[in-house]
Amino acid sequence: MPVEPEVAVSYDELQSLPALFRAGSGGPGPGTRWQALRALLQATEVALLNLEELAAEATVRLRQGRGAEAVRSLEWMVGFGRAWSELAWLVRDLAPVDEDGGGHLLAVTASPSWHRLTLAEKELALELKPLADHPEPCEWKRRLLRYVMLQRIGVEYTCVGGAPSAYEDFVRPDAIREAVREKRLPGENLFTPFRAAHQMPELLARAANDHIGRAVEEIEGGRADRALPLLGRADRLLDAVVRLTDLLVDRLTTDEYHAIRKALGRTSGSHSVGLHYDLMRDLYPALARASQHRDEEIGLLARTIGLHIDRWRLAHVDLPRTNLGGAGTGTRSLTGSPDALRTVARMRETGRERDPYAHTGRTFCATDWDSDVPPLAEIERRLLGGIAGHTQERFQDVQERTGRYAGPSGFAPPPKRCPARPT
Ligand code: HEM
Repeated sequence: MPVEPEVAVSYDELQSLPALFRAGSGGPGPGTRWQALRALLQATEVALLNLEELAAEATVRLRQGRGAEAVRSLEWMVGFGRAWSELAWLVRDLAPVDEDGGGHLLAVTASPSWHRLTLAEKELALELKPLADHPEPCEWKRRLLRYVMLQRIGVEYTCVGGAPSAYEDFVRPDAIREAVREKRLPGENLFTPFRAAHQMPELLARAANDHIGRAVEEIEGGRADRALPLLGRADRLLDAVVRLTDLLVDRLTTDEYHAIRKALGRTSGSHSVGLHYDLMRDLYPALARASQHRDEEIGLLARTIGLHIDRWRLAHVDLPRTNLGGAGTGTRSLTGSPDALRTVARMRETGRERDPYAHTGRTFCATDWDSDVPPLAEIERRLLGGIAGHTQERFQDVQERTGRYAGPSGFAPPPKRCPARPT
């Protein structure tokens, strides 16, 4: 296994969040429709940049006669195509009703990243052309047809009128490109897609947090009518954050994760200020408190936002499950949590215990790993035990906290975010 040096000492640095958020600074005010739209378009830029690299990788693999590996690149293209189409429908959904009444038209086809993607895909088309008329069914054909349909949706829907400035000025694709390309790992690996799976939700969560922060202020000021559209947009943005988990959950294999794990240092998504602290620790609880016994619509939207957090947690749990191993195996995470899967499950339960909207009458808990309610639970445990054994053997230093894993990580939780503070 290639042993990469760690590429960053903190989560923020690993995901290039300072550079990413610089691209989002200035411009539309916190909690506005255009802030939400810009976050969606910037997340789309991240997807386009990844697609360009994957298309180029597929082309090289085909040229080298590595057909099966080229299919793998196409599978990842389907993943990013899906992410793009999810973001794209939201662009249409959040578009202003009077979008044809003036202002600028923002179309993804104006993006330099779209232009570069078209060049990469034309190269790929040259390689695929001689194979396309081959009558036998091939793995790549189904992937390609799926990807192109997702791209069609993305191109049509990623278009919104009435914007305050033109595409490059508003979306700042070059700044996003800088952030996406800031860190790389040499060789063929999934480091860039792994970062994208963090960068896209971070962009959306940042805008959602500003919406929730402003909504809490409005609710506390007795202006429920003003809070409703803010919560409506936060709901949509967080729904997209949940859907983006599919990118890794559906695709990343244990080996692919293990191949980049050493480079991740002692970082963890649990160090995410936007997701773990601002949203989960501070803003949602503030919203849940403020919305109790008020307007019913506000209560319903607050509950939905809490549900998105829980849905996200249940989706995310599959990543430590399938990449590190089962509960009770004592498999440590990079940060040294003594049992990674139990840690994420406990984080979820703690969140639920503090959530006044959590359903108290549940008859089954999805993270009860010892339950035999799922008929395949015994097989599941065996498989997860196998992954745990393999992970512990492969990463003895992580497990035994030796070498670079000895000593504290130096991470300190950020101060509490009060609803009024924009990010
Ligand atoms: C292979 C991929 C991943 C693995 C193995 C993984 C693993 C973990 C683990 C073990 C924890 C518990 C804390 C710790 O011990 O460090 C955690 C927490 C967390 N991770 Fe991930 N993670 C992955 C991907 C992601 C992604 C893509 C995101 C999205 C930004 C993310 C965001 C978070 C957050 C926000 C928490 C705190 C959860 C909570 O408050 O309930 N992780 N992760």
